[in-house]
Amino acid sequence: MPKLIVVNRSGEETTVEAESGLTVMEAIRDNGFDELLALCGGCCSCATCHVHVDPAFVDKLPAMSEDEDDLLDSSDDRDTTSRLSCQIPFTDNLDGLKVTIAKED
Ligand code: FES
Repeated sequence: MPKLIVVNRSGEETTVEAESGLTVMEAIRDNGFDELLALCGGCCSCATCHVHVDPAFVDKLPAMSEDEDDLLDSSDDRDTTSRLSCQIPFTDNLDGLKVTIAKED
């Protein structure tokens, strides 16, 4: 199973294993990180699954949709590494991906 490194809002890093085929949001949520609210359940309509992605993996991620882009615009913590984690399928080629849970808006 691919590994995902999650950095919480206190800066603590935890490595979790997640089934390939989940989204990154599901992998984070299913491993008990309650800082990631993911209120809409992955429908790309809440932006509470905002994470910052390790720049080394940016080229491996699917392109951002217009909806995701618009939603991220509502966050004060947006930067060039911002993504909505529910929009990233967690696949074997993302093994070792590091994501940092974004600040609460
Ligand atoms: S869970 Fe709501 S946008 Fe990702």
